[in-house]
Amino acid sequence: MSKNEKPEQVAVVGLGLLGRGIAACLLGRGLHVVGVETGADQLAKARAEIQTMMDELVDLGGADAGLRDEWHGRYTGTTDFAALRESVFIVESVTEDAAVKNQVMDAIESVAGEQVVIASNTSAIPISLLQRGRKHPGRFVGMHWASPAHATRFMEIIRGEQTTDEAVAATAEMARRLGKDPCPCQRDMPGFIVNRIAYAMYREALNLLESGMADAETIDAAVRNGLGLWASLCGPLRWIDISGGPELYAKAMSRVLPTLSKADAVPAPLQELADANARGTINGRGFYSYTDEEARRWEDLYRLHAWRIVRMQNENAAT
Ligand SMILES: NC(=O)c1ccc[n+]([C@@H]2O[C@H](COP(=O)([O-])OP(=O)(O)OC[C@H]3O[C@@H](n4cnc5c(N)ncnc54)[C@H](O)[C@@H]3O)[C@@H](O)[C@H]2O)c1
Repeated sequence: MSKNEKPEQVAVVGLGLLGRGIAACLLGRGLHVVGVETGADQLAKARAEIQTMMDELVDLGGADAGLRDEWHGRYTGTTDFAALRESVFIVESVTEDAAVKNQVMDAIESVAGEQVVIASNTSAIPISLLQRGRKHPGRFVGMHWASPAHATRFMEIIRGEQTTDEAVAATAEMARRLGKDPCPCQRDMPGFIVNRIAYAMYREALNLLESGMADAETIDAAVRNGLGLWASLCGPLRWIDISGGPELYAKAMSRVLPTLSKADAVPAPLQELADANARGTINGRGFYSYTDEEARRWEDLYRLHAWRIVRMQNENAAT
């Protein structure tokens, strides 16, 4: 960067669970970041959590030790949307509520440059809905991250009805700069790619549980040792190729598919727990019960496992 050149600034609006990780990911790649939140407490919490993630990038992600302190000079936390004015790319990661997101989009649009891509990290709100009635709808795009966002390679890029090719390309380029493996989704369907596939699996797992085929622990062990073995090496389609081939799977599928659940209502074992306010590791009640210590242990195990898988995926990047 020459003396007169402005540093490249990216904005993250909403610094909750995902937004903090997104900010840490951007900072870890050397970008200047403006983080927007609703108040001083949220900003302070986000700064502390970003620090933990920067330490993790050094300790587990192989980043230079200087990153531990140096990032403060490239980060601004604020409640003022005017700070986004100079941003070259904006990621929205606020609460999953269409009304909140629309309000935030209004505020972003009122300050952002016309060409700046506005990427929403929504899990399920259609991008086509968020871009409707906007001044420059073509620059709105879905950018679906996975937690912990500073570590994972996952990234779905969703094209809404009015999203331009340029916005999709710019988002994919940003994703690659951040060490992600961008997966463009050509249609704005609920759940995009990976959650659609995952929900089909959750439904069948719940079907097996409800039918008495096996208990939760058994189902989890089978999936972990079976699908879990290959799913971070290759996807289901390559797995078909390397484990028997389409011809074999076509025969097997014709027998198995008619027996799978096609339920379109929430399966009873999940609904009953939901009705009893089971929030998993958040309140210790789910398919299993958790003490606080056990809940933290699972969170830590997941985080460390995510780093191990990312390191392995990076080694296998050529595959
Ligand atoms: N949690 C996940 O695993 C996950 C994964 C992928 C995508 N997402 C999506 O990411 C988004 C954020 O999810 P999260 O889990 O981080 O939620 P969260 O509740 O942890 O964080 C949302 C944050 O947005 C802030 N916020 C709300 N209104 C705001 C405003 N007007 N201006 C600035 N900040 C505002 C809140 O204060 C909060 O800190 C959602 O759209 C969610 O669907 C979540």
